[in-house]
Amino acid sequence: MIVKKGKVLVEQRYPVNPFSSRQERHKGTSYLVMDPKRSKLAAGLKTGLQHPPQEHDIVLYLGASAGYTVSFLAQQTPLLLAVEFSPVMMQELLFIAQELPTIAPLLADARQPEQYEHRLCEADYLFCDISQRDQVDIFNKHLKYLRRGGIGALALKTRSINAVTPPDIIFKKVLNTLQQRMEIVEHHRLEPYQKDHYLIIIRNDTTL
Ligand SMILES: C[S@@+](CC[C@H](N)C(=O)[O-])C[C@H]1O[C@@H](n2cnc3c(N)ncnc32)[C@H](O)[C@@H]1O
Repeated sequence: MIVKKGKVLVEQRYPVNPFSSRQERHKGTSYLVMDPKRSKLAAGLKTGLQHPPQEHDIVLYLGASAGYTVSFLAQQTPLLLAVEFSPVMMQELLFIAQELPTIAPLLADARQPEQYEHRLCEADYLFCDISQRDQVDIFNKHLKYLRRGGIGALALKTRSINAVTPPDIIFKKVLNTLQQRMEIVEHHRLEPYQKDHYLIIIRNDTTL
């Protein structure tokens, strides 16, 4: 997963990516182009993200939706546990998972991880993209499934928390709360790709 010539590129290992109409080749390797207007992960990479998921990482992904970002990540990760609570979105995701064997789809409410924790394994990377008022709580609830030293990414949609308060005030408040419990390694405002969104990256350190 790299940014090259201003584009976010993901190495293509499996022949399928239903969302990618663009493929590029560099030095004999085939890459897929990911759209930062559709993916907070891609928007993060375009705005300077230094800690994206690595090739060997087991990823726990909350808010998989119809699988846009998942379909790219699944090209490079050994296992991607994809949680989504909308049956309509899950139906789309299942079509993709049939083609990409690294995706493990979980139709479940991320507010209640205890209902599916028997299906989880320890993750190296937690990605949370759930635009709900309680998105920070949902993220926090899943930190116990992240290995010590693992990376957590919270795609924060400020408007879902409060549509009236300015986005930067909400962002600072969330950052302060998280800082008390965990190490923040970087954060990015995702404009101009994702309006009123931030990406906050933490390292799971159980000693804090
Ligand atoms: C902003 S979309 C995610 C987009 C996706 N990450 C992507 O890049 O393609 C948020 C998703 O979270 C899902 N969602 C919202 N609340 C949820 C919950 N409590 N549990 C699981 N999924 C939830 C929604 O159904 C929606 O598909």
